[in-house]
Amino acid sequence: MQKPDKHILVCASFRAGGDAQGVCHKKGSVGLLPYLQEGLSDRELDGVMVSTTGCLKVCDRGPCMVVYPEGTWYGGVTGEEAVDEILDAVKDGRVDEKHALL
Ligand code: FES
Repeated sequence: MQKPDKHILVCASFRAGGDAQGVCHKKGSVGLLPYLQEGLSDRELDGVMVSTTGCLKVCDRGPCMVVYPEGTWYGGVTGEEAVDEILDAVKDGRVDEKHALL
């Protein structure tokens, strides 16, 4: 098994019952997944894995995602422009200050 270099966790708002009911899902987090995968491919970030998660407990800042191993939390990921800015930062090895949750 090859471990990823980085892992992006995207909040899909899954709850204990299995339903996606929360803020991030309602604001389109899951709908951004194809664009996120395409953006990784475009940037040749082959070692980056994307997974969806349950609620990350920062709903008021959603849609949210976290980049590991840095542990950088992002919020307000509401569209393709936000995804592009975050992926550009990931590629450059920096933090996208515009969307980072401090
Ligand atoms: S639903 Fe995404 S942080 Fe709670």
